[in-house]
Amino acid sequence: MSASFKAHHLLGIKDLHLDDIQLIFQTADNFKEVINRPIKKVPSLRDVTIVNLFFENSTRTRISFELAEKRLSADVLNFSASASSVSKGETLVDTVKNILAMKVDMVVMRHPMAGASMFLSRHIHAQIINAGDGTHEHPTQALLDAYSIREKTGSLKNVKVVIVGDILHSRVALSNILLLQRLGAKVMVCGPLTLIPKYIEELGVKVETDIRKALQWCDVANMLRIQMERQDIRYFPTLREYILQYGVSKQLLETVNKKIIIMHPGPINRGVEITSDVADSNQSIILDQVENGVAIRMAVLYLLAGKKATA
Ligand code: CP
Repeated sequence: MSASFKAHHLLGIKDLHLDDIQLIFQTADNFKEVINRPIKKVPSLRDVTIVNLFFENSTRTRISFELAEKRLSADVLNFSASASSVSKGETLVDTVKNILAMKVDMVVMRHPMAGASMFLSRHIHAQIINAGDGTHEHPTQALLDAYSIREKTGSLKNVKVVIVGDILHSRVALSNILLLQRLGAKVMVCGPLTLIPKYIEELGVKVETDIRKALQWCDVANMLRIQMERQDIRYFPTLREYILQYGVSKQLLETVNKKIIIMHPGPINRGVEITSDVADSNQSIILDQVENGVAIRMAVLYLLAGKKATA
């Protein structure tokens, strides 16, 4: 464990001290320089074995963690629930204990149930990184989002960020709210009231249902997709009406008298929450977020493993 990094696991933003967050960002600055070199690999995690346990689909997070681990020279195992003995009735704890018995050092886990990483942390000794647990938290996404904003604005202090869309089912929203506020940003959520959790104002965020007012207020708009896979009832009449009320297009952005930074954690549903001319515009930092995700995850893995920097 690094002398100054306090966290033992990364289960959620709630567990991170401000010093830990600053250290993650400083370390990510070093690793971002590394991954832009012709030789992108460093030996920092040689002899560390990491398993990526994905009980839910992922493109960006799974590949980003795997790449981060390989850039750090870790030994990497990939597990997907559909090809495992989970389908034969094995419990989460038994599955992980069996994997750890093979001398695995760290666990990166995505799971559909909120609290799964926390639950696992009470049953195993290996370090755990939460790669998304149900509708609860997605801490590395929030870290890479905040890092990407800071890269553009220099600081998060007093930066106004609106998170737009399906806040109710979004782990990205909760982790972003907690982290951005910790770093001094002002946060608003915007969407239909049916997709905004009751009492969310108690977290200190503003609530706005009018996208035009939200865009006038903000410096940064983080656009979320509608999480259809987590919805068992209808939260708005039709997708067409949602697009008309909350979809962000170039035309809509042109009504705002400043250049807002556009973000999206992915996967994008083009033509729903944002149009292609916004997603692909020079206001969009969506692919910067993806690039920064590798550096942030390298930093988190490196600091949790407690190795000396070789970057
Ligand atoms: N942003 C994010 O978590 O994307 P994936 O679901 O593709 O990992």
